[in-house]
Order: sequence, then structure tokens, then C-alpha cells
Amino acid sequence: MQVLIHSDQEKVAEHAYDFLRHIMKKRKRLVLGLASGSTPLRLFRKMVAGFTAGEVDFSSVYTFNLDEYVGLKPDDLQSYHCFMRASLFDHVNLNKDNVHFLSGIPEDIERHCEDYEQQIREVGGIDLQILGIGRNGHIGFNEPTSSLASRTRMVILTQGTIRDNERFFPNKEDVPGRALTMGVGTILEARELLLLATGSEKARALAAMIEGPVTAMCPASALQMHPSVTVLCDQAAAQKLTHTEYYEQVAGKENAATGNLPYEQRQT
Ligand code: GLP
Repeated sequence: MQVLIHSDQEKVAEHAYDFLRHIMKKRKRLVLGLASGSTPLRLFRKMVAGFTAGEVDFSSVYTFNLDEYVGLKPDDLQSYHCFMRASLFDHVNLNKDNVHFLSGIPEDIERHCEDYEQQIREVGGIDLQILGIGRNGHIGFNEPTSSLASRTRMVILTQGTIRDNERFFPNKEDVPGRALTMGVGTILEARELLLLATGSEKARALAAMIEGPVTAMCPASALQMHPSVTVLCDQAAAQKLTHTEYYEQVAGKENAATGNLPYEQRQT
């Protein structure tokens, strides 16, 4: 796992965009796993700006979003469908047929989740999965105690997650109590993982994920089992990490500060 600590969230987004742009250049066709939530928003803005400036082309990009609330229709304002359209999809040249989403209103939940996994397999698997992390260490909506081998399925959200996400809804009562999410096992099958974490409220979860034991109590800790993980975080989110000196040594001190580490020199 490579941990790169930046001064602030803007630098994290810049580095994430560079990372993505580099991979998009390398691959003719890219299958991209996407997370929603506030953390990747700055990255999405850079993707849109990069597209407008002619730096990146999404015509051969396939996307799979991690999760969706159960009970919300695609055009409900608080749905992740709607969020993704407003923040990214409507502003770049993605082919609509290449955009994949879990439905919040599936007729048959189990079947729908199996179909989603099948769709991922049919395009050859996810090349790069972008992730955020919940305050309780969740990835996607895999709450603590989720099996680290779990597949795409319906989950019950913790009260903590409902509280954390109520800022996106008119009232706390409007936050759905259930969601569909790719499983931890599904996420671990992506060829490369890029996790973004910003803000002091993520510090505890980030330290547990990187330096704690692999445990279902912190589903993100399963990333320790993946051979190709890059973590981009700001200093606020990194404040509970204890091996910072080593991460900076690996990254090259100057490069860690400026975010200019050449990809060829990246180590994991
Ligand atoms: C949300 C989403 C996750 C997201 C995480 C962090 O509940 N289900 O996909 O990565 O929790 O969200 P945020 O970036 O808003 O802090």
C-alpha cells in the first residue's frame, strides 16, 4: 500500500486527477469504479475541467458505481444516480450505455446484485476503483462486521452512517436505512484501488485501515490484502498515522510534499 500525504484536499484532488489521467492515457479502454460522497467531488470537478480542456476523453470509459440507497429512484435528488449525473456524468463524453449503476428500486434485489457482478465480469473486471472511506471504516456501504469476502448485496446502514449522510437530505428521517453496495470481495477484485480521505473526521478510520489489524470491524482494512493500493490523504486525515516518516521516505520527501511523484517510481 502506498500512502501519500498532501497538505490539503485540493492537492489530494490534483494528485488523484493526475493518477487517473495517467491511467486513461495508458489504456485505450478503462473500466472505472466510482464512489460518491463529498470526498471525490473535487476530483470530479477536475475530471470535468480536464475534459473541457481536451486533456481527457471518456468515450472508451466504462463506469460502475459502488452503491445506491434502497428506495430512491434514479431521478430522486438524493440518489447517488442523480449525484453522479450532476457532478460528473452530464458534463463529460461518457457513452450512456457504458455507465452502470445499482438500482435503488430493483424488482428482485438478489438477482439485480448478481446481474451487477455479471456486468462487471462481462467487461473484463474493474481496472481502477476509486474509493472514499466512512468514519466507521466502511467502503462503499460495507458497514463494520461486513464479511471481507462479501459480494454485491443489500445492507442495513448503521445509525452513525445515517447521521453522517443526513446532511444530503432535507430531514434525518428521509435517509434510507438500507443500501445496495458492491461487496468487499467485489472491490478487492479491481486491479487497482485508489482511496481518497480528507478531513480530521476520517483520521481514526484511516489509521485503522492502514495500520490496524485486518478486521471486519474496519472493512477498509481488507485493502491490506490487495497488491495495488494507493491512498491519497490530506494531513488532517493522516494525523493518527504513526508511520508517516516511512510513507514519506517511500514516496520521496519532496515529492510527497508536492504530489509530483513520477508514476514509474511508485512503490507499493
Ligand atoms: C458514503 C458512501 C461511500 C463514501 C463514504 C464517505 O456513505 N457510501 O461510498 O465513500 O460514505 O463519504 P464522504 O466522502 O461523503 O465522507
